[in-house]
Amino acid sequence: MFKSLQLPAIACALVSAAAQSDEYTKIDNHPCLRDYNGITKSMFDLSDANPTLATVTDIGDTYLKLHPGSAITEISDIPEDGFDIWGFNVTNSDSS
Ligand SMILES: *[C@@H]1O[C@H](CO)[C@@H](O)[C@H](O)[C@H]1NC(C)=O
Repeated sequence: MFKSLQLPAIACALVSAAAQSDEYTKIDNHPCLRDYNGITKSMFDLSDANPTLATVTDIGDTYLKLHPGSAITEISDIPEDGFDIWGFNVTNSDSS
């Protein structure tokens, strides 16, 4: 029987090689989980490669982007000046 702490590593090993590619940045110590920049880049890459199936839209700003400098940065690695919030629309625009 596997200990629960081993499950993420096992699950990661089952993910396809493409999904684990080094092309996208990951969260430290979580080799299968893309960070904000990795997720954002993968969404734009998917929509660029499949423009009739996926689009990316800026749907807003985080609180810190609207209120820069208001973060307590000593306790987090969240970018101090915030970031955009992206919507990822997956649909076939050629369908009727
Ligand atoms: C998603 O894309 C479809 C097809 O282009 C479009 O009709 C729809 O309005 C989009 N939805 C959103 C929330 O952007």
